[in-house]
Amino acid sequence: MSERELLMIPGPTNVDPAVLRALSKPTQSHTSSEFVRIFKESLNDLKKLFMTQDEAFVIAGSGTLALEMAVANVVEPGDRILNLVAGFFGQHFVEIAKAHGAVTQVLEVPWGEPIKPEAVKDFLHKGNFKAVTVTHVETSTGIANPIREIGETVKEQSDAFYIVDAVCSLGGMEVRVDDWNIDICAAGSQKCIGAPPGLAMLSVGNDVLKLLDSRRSPVCFWYGDLNNWLPVVRDTSQYFATPPVNMIYALHQALKILLNEGLEQRFRRHHVIAEAFRAAMDALNLRLVAKRESAADTMTAAYYPDNIDDATFRSEMRRRGIVVASTLGPLKGKGFRVGHMGNVNQNDILATIGAIEATLKNMGYNLNEGAGLAAAEEKILSL
Ligand SMILES: Cc1ncc(COP(=O)(O)O)c(C=O)c1O
Repeated sequence: MSERELLMIPGPTNVDPAVLRALSKPTQSHTSSEFVRIFKESLNDLKKLFMTQDEAFVIAGSGTLALEMAVANVVEPGDRILNLVAGFFGQHFVEIAKAHGAVTQVLEVPWGEPIKPEAVKDFLHKGNFKAVTVTHVETSTGIANPIREIGETVKEQSDAFYIVDAVCSLGGMEVRVDDWNIDICAAGSQKCIGAPPGLAMLSVGNDVLKLLDSRRSPVCFWYGDLNNWLPVVRDTSQYFATPPVNMIYALHQALKILLNEGLEQRFRRHHVIAEAFRAAMDALNLRLVAKRESAADTMTAAYYPDNIDDATFRSEMRRRGIVVASTLGPLKGKGFRVGHMGNVNQNDILATIGAIEATLKNMGYNLNEGAGLAAAEEKILSL
């Protein structure tokens, strides 16, 4: 099979050749002045992306590490935590909170629906919560939760720390950490940022740093204890554990590309491409999993028409050079997920739509040939 395939899954995403070149640079000492500078610049650029004046952390690991560090540093055994769950990834916060001895209260909505801020308000009155967790883009369904409005509710109605999983949104959709009352925002390198998998990233507000000094018990996660990493992110020549030197070269380059494009333009590109993809799904009569008004701009999950086999569809797509993902959990086999984030461009999305049309037609689905492409092209004209 050709190496030249288009990765249209909801992460990892296609990595720009300039980022791959940065990754393959000769590995330097983590204490060399060159690396110390690159690490520092990356953290500064990351703060611009998080839109925060407080701290940014980059640790070797995946997005899940960022989620676990967020919870482990804030909650202590016996603390109450409110987990807002709209799908597979929201549930991960529940499992992590339990693993760290927190008492979990779950506000759950059906898959495909977003969390409503009014419901959060009602729940906040039920208990004295140390923290509230929410997933911005729920990658199992393709909804984007209203994290700005939920943040306002959390701050107005409680003293809880507000923890946001932006693994599938940071760099593709607006996330304003300081303006939106986010105490910890968790992200990963492999989705909208366009670097390979391997880095956990967090923004951490000053109130969380103050909390760390007043905890009753030590953080039960030595590698993930923010107090161990704080001296490093404040002075990148310091050592706690060896940083992933080449991955930080890659992140550095990915962030330069991202900031060079400009955040507003980048969010607009994601929005137009998402709109184009949704218009194509409508034109092909494929139903989206997400409620339309809450659909994310970074990925989409769609249901198959009747009699389309998931494994056959995805292998036929792959034969056409395009990799898409299956749906998860209770939706397994019922639909497919397409990531349209990071470096995605109009050619990528049109190629994907064209391959979906051809594949479905070949599998016996009765469709209006070219209807999806035409609907998408109309939206893309504005890009
Ligand atoms: C919203 C969300 N949160 C968390 C994760 C977990 O990230 P990772 O697989 O990098 O550990 C993912 C991965 O797809 C995700 O989409």
